[in-house]
Order: sequence, then C-alpha cells, then structure tokens
Amino acid sequence: AEALKKQPLVNVGTAGHVDHGKTTLIQALTGIWASHHSEELKRGITLKIGYADTAIYQCPKCPPPQKYYTSANLPSDMKCKYCGTPLEYVRKVSFVDVPGHEMLMSIMLAGSAMMDAALLVIDATKECPQPQTREHFTALDIIGVRRIIVVQNKIDVVSRERARESYNEIKRFLEGTWAEDAPIIPVSALHKVNIDALVWAIEKYVPTPERDHSLPPRMLVARSFDVNKPGTPVHELVGGVLGGTIVQGKFRVGDEVEIKPGVKLKKGGQEVWEPLYTTITSLKSGEEPLEVAYPGGLIAIGTELDPSISKADNLIGNVVGKPGSLPEPLYEIDLEVHLLERVVGTDQPLKVDPVRNGEVLMVNVGTMLSVGVVTTARHDEVHMKLKIPVVADEGTRVALSRQIAGRWRLIGYGFLK
Ligand code: GTP
Ligand code: MG
Ligand code: MG
Repeated sequence: AEALKKQPLVNVGTAGHVDHGKTTLIQALTGIWASHHSEELKRGITLKIGYADTAIYQCPKCPPPQKYYTSANLPSDMKCKYCGTPLEYVRKVSFVDVPGHEMLMSIMLAGSAMMDAALLVIDATKECPQPQTREHFTALDIIGVRRIIVVQNKIDVVSRERARESYNEIKRFLEGTWAEDAPIIPVSALHKVNIDALVWAIEKYVPTPERDHSLPPRMLVARSFDVNKPGTPVHELVGGVLGGTIVQGKFRVGDEVEIKPGVKLKKGGQEVWEPLYTTITSLKSGEEPLEVAYPGGLIAIGTELDPSISKADNLIGNVVGKPGSLPEPLYEIDLEVHLLERVVGTDQPLKVDPVRNGEVLMVNVGTMLSVGVVTTARHDEVHMKLKIPVVADEGTRVALSRQIAGRWRLIGYGFLK
C-alpha cells in the first residue's frame, strides 16, 4: 500500500480545440507548465504529449469545494487557509496534456490511449463546438475514454450573459450523446478561479480504476530518450530510457522485458522490425524512484539499451512486456470498420465517403501511429498493409483517419480481427 502511494494511479487527460486553455488549466491544477519544448515555447502551441502530476489534499473540517487543495496551491504549513486544520493527503493524480491544433490529431489520439478520464476544455468566448472540440470529443469516444468533465474556461473575460449562452451551447452540443450528463465546471485557468470545484469534480467523477495487478505487464511507450549529456565518458553512460503508461500489470526493477515491434532493419531489401530485449535498471514516476511500478502516471523505465536506439523519441508507439507475452507485430491488418457519419474536424462537417481500395489511411493503435494502404475494402471489411507494424490483441480498437484537403481527419474506427 505504501508503494502505491508513491505514484499516481489515475491519468486524467485534456481535450479540446487549439488555444482553449488546456495547458494553462494543467498548470493551475499542478503548478507545472507541461509544454516545455523550445519549439512549443516559441510558438505558444502544444506539439507533444505533456504530463504533470499533482497531489490532492483536503481539509477534514471544511465543506467542498473549498476543502480541496493541490500541489499547486498547498499552504507551506500544510494547514487549511480557512480554518487552520491540518490537511489530509487524498491521492496523486497524473495529467496528460495533448495539443489542440488540427495538424496534431495523431498526437491527441496517442495521448488519449493513456487516459482514464478527460477534461474537455471549452473556451467560453468562442461559439461551441469548434472543429477540434468535435473531433477530440469523437476521439475520446472512439478510444473509449467515456468519463469526461467539461471545463468551461476563460470565464474571466466573458459577460454573465455570454457565460450563460456558452453554457447552453455546450449543453446542446452534448445533448443526446453518451456525455449529456457530464458535469460542466466554469473556471478561469489563467486566474485560477474555481479550480477547487474542478478538483471536487475530479474526486467525484474520476475514481481510481480498480486494476488486476496480476495481469502480464504491458506499457505503451509515449516518449523515449537518451538522457546522457553530450561528452559523457563511455563508462558513465546510462542506457536508454522509455517513458509511457503501464496499461496493465506491474513492472519491477530487474525484470527482463521485450519491446515490440522494436527497431527497423533492412533484410534483403525489405524493411523488418526486430524486437528488443533488455533488463529494467530503474523505474521512476516523476522524480520518485520506484521498485515496482503500477498503471497510472507517466513511468520512466531505465534500461540497458544502447541510448542511440531510444534517443529522440525513436521508440514511440512500442509496447513493453515480459518476453514472449506480447502479440506478434502485424504488418497487415484486417479490420471491421465503423465509419463516422460525418468528418467532424473540418470547419463544415462533411459526409464520410466509404473506404476505397488503394487509399492511404492513418492508423492509431495505443500510442503507435502508422499509415497503411487499403488492399481490399468490402462493406465494413477492410484489409490494409501497414508501413510500421502494430502490436495489439485481436479486438483492439484502431482509430482511422483520412487525408482531406491536406489534413488527417478522423473518419472512424475498426476492430482488429
Ligand atoms: P494548444 O495546446 O496549442 O491547443 O493550446 P491550449 O489549449 O493548451 O491553450 P493554452 O493553455 O496554451 O492557452 C492559450 C491562450 O489562452 C494563452 O494565451 C493563455 O494565457 C490563454 N488562456 C488560457 N486560459 C485562460 C483563462 O482562463 N482566461 C484567459 N483570459 N485566458 C486564458
Ligand atoms: Mg497546450
Ligand atoms: Mg496555445
């Protein structure tokens, strides 16, 4: 139980149109700006999956929402600012932040494979829904993240009247969907207004999932690194590091693991992927070293891999498991396809045309992004040849996107047969 307290056991993601305030909201909740790559800072948009953890505390005497505190606003004396009572630790929560830009839908899809629940962030100053409000909402449904809290953001810059109008637009947007009863929490992420009410909603609507820790372990790789500083002497080099989320089971320091599909090789003019085998040398959740890591949060696995293999996110999309436990990489897939009625990510929703022989589709499975050519398409049965093989069980959901006017747009999903 102590071990379980060291790491977050639940992942809450963001979703929503570009610039609606997702990263600002994560900062209000955690105190951390999760979008720190130099290019992201320069352009002011999120480009990669970001993450930040927070601990939630409560005052045992005060009523909600004001009883809630997070690492971002924890008083240094650990006492309630209203009544002075010592605060109690509740749990750690990990946040997965995704980009809202329409060009980055594949990153959003990979991020949502790591979410147990999502905060759908909607800018109250804009008419709802905006195109990526619709597209992210649909993606959450497709990936199976059916626990959402709607966050009506930027209430600091709208009139009371516009706030009400925006609320009604959100209600109309959700009406008749699986999310029609989702809570809607008005906030100002920038000025940290009503964040305690959002924490309350997270406590109420996002329970820590019950997991079966005896399942064979599996991790989806979302980042990979060479953590050595340039010029490090050879004998001090540390092995490659994999960042990702454990979707089932648990990993321990010392475990042997396989990583699939692994690395691309050329064999007789053909591209093949070879699995990697290594030993876990360290585990970390944020800055916290662990002996055992469970599902929840972004876990960094230290390995004995040559760091040049894992550098620069080279291993994104791989799956980590015990040797012999992972499915074989699929270079060709058979799908039972379910198309959306409309392409929702464009300014004006368009009808989705049937899948055609010979067309190229983008395929997202877990954190893996691949593209493939359709070799047969008969009604809902589609066969594809993939550029990068995917590692997934039969029945896994695959998100499908098609290029429309130069952009990948979500058009539906398929079940792996
Ligand atoms: P992408 O990741 O690029 O999709 O954007 P995002 O949704 O993460 O938005 P981000 O947090 O980067 O915020 C976009 C802009 O909105 C920034 O200039 C923020 O300062 C501003 N902003 C965010 N929240 C609020 C808010 O509550 N009120 C006001 N007035 N501005 C806000
Ligand atoms: Mg952002
Ligand atoms: Mg932005």
